Amino acid sequence: MNECLDKIIDNYLENEGNVLTILQDIEKYYGYISEDAVCRIARELDIHPSRFFGIASFYSQFHLKPRGKNIITICRGTPCHIKGSEKILGRMRMELDVSRDEETTEDQLFTLEEVNCVGACGISPVVAINGQVHGEMDINKMMREISKLRADN
Ligand code: FES
Repeated sequence: MNECLDKIIDNYLENEGNVLTILQDIEKYYGYISEDAVCRIARELDIHPSRFFGIASFYSQFHLKPRGKNIITICRGTPCHIKGSEKILGRMRMELDVSRDEETTEDQLFTLEEVNCVGACGISPVVAINGQVHGEMDINKMMREISKLRADN
């Protein structure tokens, strides 16, 4: 961990970076905005930690909690909703045993998240699995995808 933090700090100092750059580096290295990482960097650079968390909570690209190894993104836009995304989401919450507030599984294998539109409404309902868009999704297809991911991990 310290090696990663040293690289982030060096990168900031060498490139006259800004807080946003540091946050992007933390997200890249850790997969989320680690409080420990922010506090150490803030101390080293003499920047108040609240500056980091203020910016991180503003941008949706940053995640304040650890994320799972696999990211399941279910589209909740109107076209996807009409074609049954709500049922897929409900089934996935049950299958992965996550609630609205706690969207990463205990074993850190999956993070279940929602999005408003991924721009593929013509093939709704849409689910992105680790960034790969799957169209015309249904519960059976989702269950197969989840099984494959579990087998691979
Ligand atoms: S609303 Fe789901 S892809 Fe557009």
